[in-house]
Amino acid sequence: MSHRPFAGRVALVTGSSRGIGRAIALRLARDGADVVVNYRKRDDAARCTAAEIEARGARALLAQANMAEPAEIEGLFATIRQEFGRLDFLICNAAAGMQGTMLEATLKAWELAMNVNARSYLLCAQAAFPLLTAHDGGGRIIAVTARIATERAFPYYGTVAASKAAINTLTAYLAVELAPHNISVNAISPGLVDTEALAYFRRGGELLEKARCMTPSGRATNVDDIAGVAAFLCSDAARQVNGQVLEVDGGYTRLFL
Ligand SMILES: NC(=O)c1ccc[n+]([C@@H]2O[C@H](COP(=O)([O-])OP(=O)(O)OC[C@H]3O[C@@H](n4cnc5c(N)ncnc54)[C@H](OP(=O)(O)O)[C@@H]3O)[C@@H](O)[C@H]2O)c1
Repeated sequence: MSHRPFAGRVALVTGSSRGIGRAIALRLARDGADVVVNYRKRDDAARCTAAEIEARGARALLAQANMAEPAEIEGLFATIRQEFGRLDFLICNAAAGMQGTMLEATLKAWELAMNVNARSYLLCAQAAFPLLTAHDGGGRIIAVTARIATERAFPYYGTVAASKAAINTLTAYLAVELAPHNISVNAISPGLVDTEALAYFRRGGELLEKARCMTPSGRATNVDDIAGVAAFLCSDAARQVNGQVLEVDGGYTRLFL
């Protein structure tokens, strides 16, 4: 089997300047895919990701675009159309939100989470469709969700959790609608992963420590665990996996806490 099974393929990873998105971008590049590195404001980090993609022998295209802005999403896909004329893997990973209790939740917090996390997933899937079907007919869409917070009350995460629940539902509907076009749509639900995002969580350190101690597999989930599953979902082996939310958490969410 080829060591670069994704050679000639093009991936867009939203929010790939840092964290989980960056790990997914590097993993897909290692497997041969050219990668569009989307980010919002951290040019330095995005350039670093792009350099590491190119060190793996793939092409990287830096594409700044705020997922909260429909016009910027449209512009992003126009760039991909112009530069590559195709897209094989759409990875909707970027996320934003404000911490707080439900009673503290402002309209701004609700709209930020819903627009960046859920609405952008729908808009990206719609814009990606003609590119995903442009060559060889078909492709993969993967969203990054957080079931750790949609089925239980994760501290100060209510508005983001609601947007993640929307992502889970969108995954089911997109999967059914796009399957006849040879596009599979799945979501990955990571356990707690030590990224910059956790630094902004109230009680983030404490929650991460708990995950480190209690995850049945004996360690916390890391970015490469998520990247490996993303690569699997993009592979031919996963072609019949559709409409699923995959927990990648070492068994953590199966614990009775
Ligand atoms: N870490 C965890 O424990 C955990 C657990 C469950 C689910 N997740 C999910 O995993 C995904 C990645 O999380 P992470 O921990 O890797 O986060 P992170 O380290 O904070 O990285 C967030 C990424 O998203 C980008 N981004 C933020 N807002 C954006 C916007 N409006 N438009 C475009 N890009 C934007 C950031 O770009 P800039 O660098 O330009 O700011 C950055 O690349 C998210 O969907 C998150 O909800 C994470």
